[in-house]
Amino acid sequence: MAVAGRIRVKAAKIKVFLIAVLALLGSSLVAFGAKVSAFRGDVSQSVTEDGRRVVAVSVAGREAVLSEMRLMMAALHGVLDGLARSDMKQVGASASSAGLGAAVDMDPAVRASLPPEFVRLGMSTHVGFDSLAAASSGGGDREEILGRAARLSANCVACHATYKLEVQ
Ligand code: HEC
Repeated sequence: MAVAGRIRVKAAKIKVFLIAVLALLGSSLVAFGAKVSAFRGDVSQSVTEDGRRVVAVSVAGREAVLSEMRLMMAALHGVLDGLARSDMKQVGASASSAGLGAAVDMDPAVRASLPPEFVRLGMSTHVGFDSLAAASSGGGDREEILGRAARLSANCVACHATYKLEVQ
């Protein structure tokens, strides 16, 4: 009986050990797979170590996207600064500087290389800036416009949490 019990305990320990080895192997394979697919530039499958999706871009593409980003950052700052001082003229001017008009400057070849979902989210952000500009010039309530700016900034957060540029 005692011997059988010891064997059972031993068998259970071996089982736990095997499961641990398999789990370790599985997770390294997943990490390896992510690296390989990133290497191949497979946009929909590649994932960075922090879980974001890789957007493969050329050097020029990266510059185009990042300069659009800096423009949006400056616009958002202008909007918030204007709202803080109740300067609706500034709110409107800052918001429209990052509206759809700013997006048309992007090289069509660069745009075509970006994932459609990424472009859609970017465009809806530009549209959001335009409607913020319209609301502020239409004599919109300051609190209401602040709420719109906050909702618009959720687009920035969502996209940054999802994508990462990688020059390939
Ligand atoms: C469609 C996706 C998307 C949206 C929407 C978006 N961003 Fe970005 N942004 C990115 C990506 C991708 C990067 C590069 C991040 C990386 O590679 O780690 C970036 C980078 C930036 C940077 C760094 C620029 C630089 O020169 O390095 C700033 C600033 C920025 N975004 C501001 C904003 C602001 C403000 C908004 C909202 C008004 C916004 N972004 C909306 C995708 C987006």
